[in-house]
Amino acid sequence: MTQTCFITTPIYYVNGAPHIGHAYTSIAADVMARFKRLDGYDVFFLTGTDEHGQKVEKAAADKGVDPQTFADTVSADFRAMSDAMGISYDDWIRTTEERHKVSCAELWRRIEKNGDIYLGHYEGWYAVRDEAFYDEAELTTRPDGSKVAPSGAPVEWVREPSYFFRLSAFQDRLLKLYEEHPEFIAPSSRRNEVTSFVKGGLNDLSISRTTFNWGIQVPDAPGHVMYVWLDALNNYVTACGFPDEQAPRWKYWPADVHFVGKDIIRFHAVYWPAFLMAAGLPLPRRVTSNGWWLMDGEKMSKSLGNVVEPRKLAEIFGLDQIRYFLLREKPFGADGSLSHAAIISRINVDLANDLGNLAQRSLSLVARNCGGVLPTRGTPTEDDKALLDAAAALPDLMRAHIDRQTFHDGLEEVWKVIRAANGYIDRQAPWALNKTDKARMGAVLRVLVDTIRVVATLLQPFMPASMAKMLDQLGVGDQRNFAALAMPLPEGQTLPHPRGVFPRYVEPAT
Ligand code: MSP
Repeated sequence: MTQTCFITTPIYYVNGAPHIGHAYTSIAADVMARFKRLDGYDVFFLTGTDEHGQKVEKAAADKGVDPQTFADTVSADFRAMSDAMGISYDDWIRTTEERHKVSCAELWRRIEKNGDIYLGHYEGWYAVRDEAFYDEAELTTRPDGSKVAPSGAPVEWVREPSYFFRLSAFQDRLLKLYEEHPEFIAPSSRRNEVTSFVKGGLNDLSISRTTFNWGIQVPDAPGHVMYVWLDALNNYVTACGFPDEQAPRWKYWPADVHFVGKDIIRFHAVYWPAFLMAAGLPLPRRVTSNGWWLMDGEKMSKSLGNVVEPRKLAEIFGLDQIRYFLLREKPFGADGSLSHAAIISRINVDLANDLGNLAQRSLSLVARNCGGVLPTRGTPTEDDKALLDAAAALPDLMRAHIDRQTFHDGLEEVWKVIRAANGYIDRQAPWALNKTDKARMGAVLRVLVDTIRVVATLLQPFMPASMAKMLDQLGVGDQRNFAALAMPLPEGQTLPHPRGVFPRYVEPAT
């Protein structure tokens, strides 16, 4: 049976327009989804929008529209952005859909049946921007006397009847989970953070609100809507068909990887597994968190006016170029700075010089000196073998990096081979062999074609359109998955005329 793989992105709040931070998490998840499909897995890749709660209700009110109409517009824009960025999702979930309401009501009932929900009264701090409750001790006081959450979000004092989830009862089970499954939270710095948060003791969690109504009704409790994070997290099982365990997609649960930003790790690594334990459902295997993109060193924010529109960036530099840049420039879990200079350098050095030139140099020699016909393999020399072995080792190296979300290290391994191939072509000088030893020239060019084929095959998840072009030029048919690498290219075929895949980026004259 084919192994399944369920990958998710966070579902995005529809309170404002999408920016590069949203696109980033989705692109990383997309790379893994595409990689797993090429590696023979039965993949389910989910993304969508988080549409309830006070934050969305306020944003709609500011625009003078009802929340549903507002959510429809913004959700459609997020979807258009995801399509434009090449996100190959299998389902686009919206928390205002009927299937999700049914699923949330059932999750609630199961948790309640287990005895982990009770009615009480909430009094404390709430940050609408984070849709999160905070303890007094977590807040800092500004010079003007106002209080802010650790994220910098303003807080307000809330006092209302509320249902509570008995989170305090899950401390030991959560700690056991982190201990028995160290891979559950990545990177490890975040695991340590979450572990010490849980060790510090857990308060019961307020899971219903009564002072507004833009949310999913609590079953049999008029006036109560579910806390937006309970509603939002549950999207992952809704999409698998919950509560219908006969649904065709139920086989995908539990999730293999939840991709999240570092700001929402607590919700995914503490609240979510606790809700699932209480409901008697299997737990996700991994929550992996990305760091922040800063704009020229500063945090992106609407008030600073430095928010980057992903579609704009792709228009200026090319979609594949941006996808590559985002995953290559910084380690996934760390913060990094986005600047035009850094993007241009990656495009001109890594893509145009290293990879683009390698393919163009090799393929134009095939066109010019071999009549465009794919040369046959020769008996490999030591130098040939070293390069071919390095290329053959790449799929396994990349598999390990994708499973750990160390995308930048995986790409560095590929670039080591690209640089080695550039060294090889300089050493072997096939252009000179054209006059002295045509057979050897052909063998050298074939080593290069075979190496570039491995590279282009593995880079497909990162740069789908460009690598499709490169594989076309190498004469690779429609079998482009990793298993197909075991089959040599069909002999004697004429390759299409080579065309550069990665133009250098030249700053337009102003
Ligand atoms: N709706 C919640 C998630 C619910 S999941 C059950 C939410 N939405 S969000 O739209 O505010 O942000 C979603 C994600 O966008 C963040 O967790 C993070 O992954 C990503 N990013 C937003 N800004 C970012 C940067 N500046 N840099 C990198 N990623 C950031 O939270």
